[in-house]
Amino acid sequence: MAVMAALARVAHPLSSPTFITLALDRTYKYSGRTHKQLFHAWNILQHKSKTQNPFPSQILTVSKSAMATRDSLPVKTAQQMAMDGDQPPPNYIFSNTTKSNYTKFGPLETSPPFASVPIVDISCFFSTSKQDDQETELAKLRSALSTWGCFQAVNHGLPYSYLDNVRQVIKQFFELPLEEKRKYFRETGSVEGYGNDMTYSENQAQDWCDRLFLRILPEDQRKLRFWPKIPSNLRETINDYTNKIKSISVVIFEAMAKSLGLEKSSFSKYFMEERDILQGRFILYPPCPTPDQVFGLKAHSDRSGITLLLQDPGVEGLQVLNDGKWYMVPVIHDAIFVNLGDQMQILSNGIFKSPVHRVVTNKEKGRISVAMFTEPEPNKEISPVDVLVDEKRPKVYKTVKNYAVFNHECFQKGMVALDAVKL
Ligand code: OGA
Ligand code: NI
Repeated sequence: MAVMAALARVAHPLSSPTFITLALDRTYKYSGRTHKQLFHAWNILQHKSKTQNPFPSQILTVSKSAMATRDSLPVKTAQQMAMDGDQPPPNYIFSNTTKSNYTKFGPLETSPPFASVPIVDISCFFSTSKQDDQETELAKLRSALSTWGCFQAVNHGLPYSYLDNVRQVIKQFFELPLEEKRKYFRETGSVEGYGNDMTYSENQAQDWCDRLFLRILPEDQRKLRFWPKIPSNLRETINDYTNKIKSISVVIFEAMAKSLGLEKSSFSKYFMEERDILQGRFILYPPCPTPDQVFGLKAHSDRSGITLLLQDPGVEGLQVLNDGKWYMVPVIHDAIFVNLGDQMQILSNGIFKSPVHRVVTNKEKGRISVAMFTEPEPNKEISPVDVLVDEKRPKVYKTVKNYAVFNHECFQKGMVALDAVKL
C-alpha cells in the first residue's frame, strides 16, 4: 500500500492565520498553526510511518504550504552592514540561537586543515577515445564520491578566462548601488531573487551572505523580473554558462553511473531531462568583523543531484565534513568543485555521499561563489536504484518526491533532511 503524507491547507473557522492540517493516508491527522506545531506534527507523521504496519513503500511529499510564515527581508543586507562597519546583529550570531543546533557537526573553526578532495580529470568522460584513462578516472570518481562525496573536476573544457568572466559579471552586479539591486529583491515566502535566505523560525541563525537566486531551467519557468538587467551581459552570461554546465553535468551523471557498473542513463534520467530543474545561486560573502561567531552559510547538505561550484580564486571559505572532521576545500583556479546532493545519496542507496558542508567568512576579504544545482522535476519519484539494492545492502531510503522544499526547511532549522527519509 502506498502511503501518501499530504499537506492540506484549510481555512480555520475560528481564527487566522491559515490553519494547516497534515494527514497520513487519512489515518492520522495532525494540525498546527504555528510553524513549530507543524514541524512537530511532521515529526509525528514520520515516526508513525516508520513504526506502523503495513507501510512497505512510502512516498513522502511536502507541499509548499509548509513554507515560511516568519519570513522577512533583511533590514540591512550583509553587504551593507559590512560596508558600514556594523557588527553582526544578534540573529546572525549562531550561538544565540536554537541552543546551537547549528554546531552539532562540530564547532566553527575558521582555519581547519585542507581537504585532500580528489582531483578528477573529466576530459576522458567526454569521449570514448581514451578508454584506459577512463577506467582510472572512473575508479577515482567512485572512490571520491563514496568517501568525500565531492571532487575537483579539471579539464572540463571551460577555460579559466571564461570562468573568471562569469565571476566578474556576478561581482559587478553586487557592486551596483542598493537602489539598483533592490529592483530584484525576492518576495517574502519565496527564495527566488536578490536578498537573503528565507526565515522559517524566529530562532533561525542568519547567514552572512547576500545572493541572487534564480531558477534557470526549465526555460519557461524563468521569472525574468528577478534577472538583473545590469550588468547588461549578465542574462546572456548566465544563459551561456548554464548550457555549458548542463553538458558537463550530463557527462558527470553518466560517469557516476558507469563507475557503479550501471546503465549510463541511470542517474541522468532524473536530472537532465527537459522538465528537470537547474537553479543558480550567485553568492557574495562580504568581509565579516567576527568570523568566529557567524557563518557565511550554515552546515547543510545540498538538496540537489549534483552541485557545480565556482569558487573565488582569491579566498577560501568552503568547508566539508568528512569522518566527523571539518576540512577547508582548497581553491584550484581552473577547477569546478562538484559535490553530490542528497538525491544522489538516495538514488545510490547510500553508496555515494552527499557531504555536509558550510562556508566561513573572512575578516578582510569578501568572497564570490557561483553554485549551480541540478534537481529533478518535482513530481519525479526518487528512490534507490533497484540494482543497488540487495540482501547485503537493503534499501536505505524511502521514495521521495519534491524533496527540495523539505531539505531546505530542515537546513534552516539545523536538522538533517536525509535522516528523516531513512527507512
Ligand atoms: C550552497 C553552497 C558553497 C559556497 O550554495 O549550497 O554550499 O562556497 N555554497 O558558496
Ligand atoms: Ni551547499
